[in-house]
Amino acid sequence: MGKNEEELRQIEIEIIGADLPLKELSKNLVFGKGNPEARIVFVGEAAGRNEDEQGIPFVGAAGKNLDNLLEKVGLSLEDIYVTNILKYRPPENRNPSISEIKIHTPYLLKQISVIKPKVVCSLGNYATKFFLAGGDVDRMKEMPGITSVHGKVKMIEINGMKIKLIPLFHPAAIIYKRSLIDDWEKDMEIVKGELNQKKLL
Ligand code: URA
Repeated sequence: MGKNEEELRQIEIEIIGADLPLKELSKNLVFGKGNPEARIVFVGEAAGRNEDEQGIPFVGAAGKNLDNLLEKVGLSLEDIYVTNILKYRPPENRNPSISEIKIHTPYLLKQISVIKPKVVCSLGNYATKFFLAGGDVDRMKEMPGITSVHGKVKMIEINGMKIKLIPLFHPAAIIYKRSLIDDWEKDMEIVKGELNQKKLL
């Protein structure tokens, strides 16, 4: 097991032992999948029913679309790591509360600090607003929505950790939507361009 994989495993064990909100209401912890050494980390919102059943993020319809979208731009799960802002599924996929986001997101930040990706891509509104607010969950609602910020490179800092953020449309929102799929492909070219920049975070 590589160092990052080992450190991610430690975070997972920490979450398993923690008394997190939503834990009792869900079937499984949905921690993350992909390459622990990836240069891109994708961050979604929360598990849906399939993810909760399997304990793996993005395995349902949104996940299938994410796989297709990655393939379109010549990438696969080997190139990325995927996780969510919430580690357990909210019942009936309801929106997460402010306090749930506050308690779950320190683990997300730990995952990112282990992987140290060159780019973090927030998928959809919740994850995007969390990062744009610099991790200040109370300010999330003041942040712009995904439609105005997708594909834009933003340097943000959370707890001293510098993150290069590129928001993307959520794969669930763009199933069969031709114009948004085109936007997603263009935005991913920006992500790939950033990977080739010499300057590290
Ligand atoms: N949508 C998300 O945001 N995350 C998942 O893991 C699945 C669907």
